[in-house]
Amino acid sequence: MQAQTFSTFLAKTQRYFSSADHDGLPRVLNDVASACIKISSIVRLGALAGTSGSLASTNTHGETQQVLDLESNRIFLEAGQISGLIAGMASEEMEQPFIENHQQKGRYLLVFDPLDGSSNISLNLSVGSIFSILRCPDGVEVPALQDFLQPGSQQVAAGYALYGTSTMLVITTGQGVNGFTLDDALGEFVLTHPDMAIPHEAKEFAINMSNQRFWELPVQRYIAECLAGVEGVRGKDFNMRWVASMVAEVHRILVRGGIFMYPVDEKTRERGGRLRLLYEANPMAFIIEQAGGLASTGYEPMMGVQPLSLHQRVGVILGSKVEVERVVAYHHQQQD
Ligand code: AHG
Ligand code: MN
Ligand code: MN
Repeated sequence: MQAQTFSTFLAKTQRYFSSADHDGLPRVLNDVASACIKISSIVRLGALAGTSGSLASTNTHGETQQVLDLESNRIFLEAGQISGLIAGMASEEMEQPFIENHQQKGRYLLVFDPLDGSSNISLNLSVGSIFSILRCPDGVEVPALQDFLQPGSQQVAAGYALYGTSTMLVITTGQGVNGFTLDDALGEFVLTHPDMAIPHEAKEFAINMSNQRFWELPVQRYIAECLAGVEGVRGKDFNMRWVASMVAEVHRILVRGGIFMYPVDEKTRERGGRLRLLYEANPMAFIIEQAGGLASTGYEPMMGVQPLSLHQRVGVILGSKVEVERVVAYHHQQQD
């Protein structure tokens, strides 16, 4: 069978994009895919690219920026300006949004984490890119910061690229989740994981255990029950993984099920959590739920959270539906 490239897939699935809401979306997605291919080629070069070091600068979150964080940000900004369909972009690496300065009215807003898990770069471990596409509100020609503050439920499309042992692009436009693998010889993504669905049976959890003493009681309870294994109330043994790259964790969950948690705890409470709502939590929540899973803050559905600021942080609990439901139930019981 002829391999289906990403652009062929987009052309074939035009019916998904027939509404005015999705007008021009394939072009935008193609440009984002091209950005990911460029980032992939630099990531693959490792230290040879001369981009493996840290910079003296810090981003808006006070985190040290890697050369590759900024280079990936530049590549996304460049790609986002090709179609003329994107009115504005916001990123983890920019304090303020970048507003497109063109005559044509852009229909979309692009929000991204250009390089996720960047502490893994110097270790030659998995990193990724995460993106979310929102609609530029009707009647808005030049978007303001406020226009980016849309709940995840309003995302038009979302996805991530995983620069792992192979490079993959996983996307949703609200019609399920499809995964593509980069064929380096072809220079294109090829559909390898159609209609991705999270397995129901889950026996694996991902959480940074070093934060255990800071967790809230519902998280303490859930993890304690997992650790109790076959002798405990869960009646089965669990496995644990922590890659320190959300993209890699989410991808693992899509392929073999499980749960990922970066909850609000005593350490992160003042900041609202560790991960960012608009360009980490929401796009991943959209993908996870389109694949049959669930995403929550512990207290409310992730995609129902009304953002109040561009770089807002949030507690994240996502993965196999029954596992997330259990953790959410523990949070609600605590409140009762
Ligand atoms: P980023 O590199 O974009 O700042 O994101 C890293 C995030 C996320 O990918 C991962 O789950 C988490 O940080 C890892 O946190 P710890 O350092 O606490 O393990
Ligand atoms: Mn990140
Ligand atoms: Mn990042």
